[in-house]
Amino acid sequence: MTTVSMTVNGQPVTADIEPRTLLVTFLRENLRLTGTHVGCDTSQCGACVVHLDGEAVKSCTVLAVQAQGSSVTTIEGLATDGELHPMQAAFRENHGLQCGFCTPGMIMSAVDIVRRKGKDLDEATIRAELEGNLCRCTGYHNIVKSIAAGAQAMAQAPLQQAAE
Ligand code: FES
Ligand code: FES
Repeated sequence: MTTVSMTVNGQPVTADIEPRTLLVTFLRENLRLTGTHVGCDTSQCGACVVHLDGEAVKSCTVLAVQAQGSSVTTIEGLATDGELHPMQAAFRENHGLQCGFCTPGMIMSAVDIVRRKGKDLDEATIRAELEGNLCRCTGYHNIVKSIAAGAQAMAQAPLQQAAE
């Protein structure tokens, strides 16, 4: 066992874990943050995307010990004071989900796309950027629409919320 400490959704956490524990397993099983999903065992689906020090990562590809001392944000950490993050609201308003399984990863990736590419996202850019996120339900049309709308909404949101 080894001791790992990090900040998750603004809260300091420490736990004794097996060194081989994946970050996604640590989040789901140790911290019970089950909004981060596991949809594959091949690092392809993107259901497990979280932000590690502000950047999107597939948490099934990161060991928890690699996040030692880092700041992690999961889908549970996006809302502020009970208000959905603008990207979450955009998915709801634009019907960007059906079963919802891929949605946490889609939203975490979407926020990261806006951070890297800015608020004016065209369809081709969004579709290319979503290469690492798979959805089995929606056909992607409304996901693309949601991300375009969410990007615009983030630009108008208070700075703190738009940042994360
Ligand atoms: S669980 Fe599928 S990419 Fe991580
Ligand atoms: S909404 Fe069902 S997998 Fe994407």
